[in-house]
Amino acid sequence: MRAHPAGPLHGDGLPHTTLPPAPDTTAMARIDAQIWPATARRDPQGRLVVGGQPVTDLVARHGTPVLLLDEADFRARAAAFQAAYTDPDVPGLVSYAGKAFLSGTTVRWLAEAGLGLDVCTGGELGLAMAAGFPPERITLHGNNKSDAELRAALAAGVGRFVIDSLDEVDRLADLAASAGAVAHVLVRVTTGVEAHTHEFIATAHEDQKFGLSLTSGAAREAVLAVAARPSLALLGIHSHIGSQIFSTAGFEVAAHRVVQFIAELAGAEGLTMAELSLGGGMGIAYLPGDDPVAPVAMADALRVIVAGECQRRGLPVPRIGVEPGRAIVGPSMVTVYEVGTVKPVEYRTGAWRTYVSVDGGMSDNIRTALYDAEYTVVLANRVSSAPAMLTRIVGKHCESGDVVVRDAWLPSDVGRGDLLAVAATGAYCRAMASNYNMIARPPVVSVRAGNDQVVLRRETQADLLALDPALAGAGPTADHQGGVVGAGLP
Ligand SMILES: Cc1ncc(COP(=O)(O)O)c(C=O)c1O
Repeated sequence: MRAHPAGPLHGDGLPHTTLPPAPDTTAMARIDAQIWPATARRDPQGRLVVGGQPVTDLVARHGTPVLLLDEADFRARAAAFQAAYTDPDVPGLVSYAGKAFLSGTTVRWLAEAGLGLDVCTGGELGLAMAAGFPPERITLHGNNKSDAELRAALAAGVGRFVIDSLDEVDRLADLAASAGAVAHVLVRVTTGVEAHTHEFIATAHEDQKFGLSLTSGAAREAVLAVAARPSLALLGIHSHIGSQIFSTAGFEVAAHRVVQFIAELAGAEGLTMAELSLGGGMGIAYLPGDDPVAPVAMADALRVIVAGECQRRGLPVPRIGVEPGRAIVGPSMVTVYEVGTVKPVEYRTGAWRTYVSVDGGMSDNIRTALYDAEYTVVLANRVSSAPAMLTRIVGKHCESGDVVVRDAWLPSDVGRGDLLAVAATGAYCRAMASNYNMIARPPVVSVRAGNDQVVLRRETQADLLALDPALAGAGPTADHQGGVVGAGLP
């Protein structure tokens, strides 16, 4: 695991990628359709526009940092997935992975589009129920579901439970029996396949907390235990192989192994599986040149793989489930920050980069620190004819690993008060946000055809102090995080 020691060299402790050559001013200002939300473009004044409004106007109303959610883009991606899995011969089931980002508004959009919803805690389930999401279209995941969470899901009438451990089989069966319910169950298996972008590795074993191993016999034991309990109805098998996947090869190996397992169960135990979920992990473009597979092409490939594997073994073709999170919400949001300080640093003799500090950071986007994630960032309030300058976009936290974009080319006249927009921040950014350094989490504002609507409001200092009984009633005399709304815009 990478450590986060304090100290001046820590920024260079991050791995280096090979930087592309300095772009020209046109390339630096470009809004690449593959990376940015569908409605993003530059207006004649050079301002970034999303959902029909310049970000300068949106920031004047909502402050910075702010996550702008392109409603049309989100809805179009959800609809594209839904349409891609409607083959009458091989029916599909698309469940949006709520962990990527959840809000009442987006959950309602997903319900309208006909998708299912994957939740993995009682909290996510509670949000879905509060938003009125149809419970029969909800799948409950989780490697450590509490009895209270299972009870709540049974009471809500959740459509699918994904069993993740042997112990959970009996707990769920007992709780369902005492509630007079029958829980529909998929067993999550580990196939030994771990996939990421263009690569995957396939071993016989997996050293991770999720799922039940095919090779050790744990998966088989769990399936038989489910089949033996009248309060559980065995629906199928679940497998999730990774994230940010650009190729179908890993799914092919995983499907091959799972279908082999299904065939063994059919032959030896006479069990049939109505569903095979291949999980999520469909990738998106973060950088120029990233080339994710379109949902329809991925769906076609998965159908061919699963149908082929089943037909070869004389098995009925199960319904194919997928759980995209990032591929729906990721590209539909951008984060807009305001620049506070600009500091040139000689990081090696004669080699300079400029640290550009913004008014958010690892509390609204932990992915760079956690996964070495890479992002595209542009100057958003204007275009510039200044030459490119190598920058590192950093946050305002008391932590030298607080990096938003490790290496970025920005116009060399970038300065205090400028706005920077980071693309493709919809997934695992606001959802993983924290209050580190007592920073209030930023709002999410949906934008569409010139209208904007708060989807999640900005936290306030009062929200944070309200959690602390020692301060109950003290109430801030002023919001010391103030000054964010439209401050200092050029
Ligand atoms: C079981 C399961 N399904 C779906 C997802 C969503 O993945 P992604 O957002 O990469 O599509 C995850 C992510 O970790 C997962 O664990």
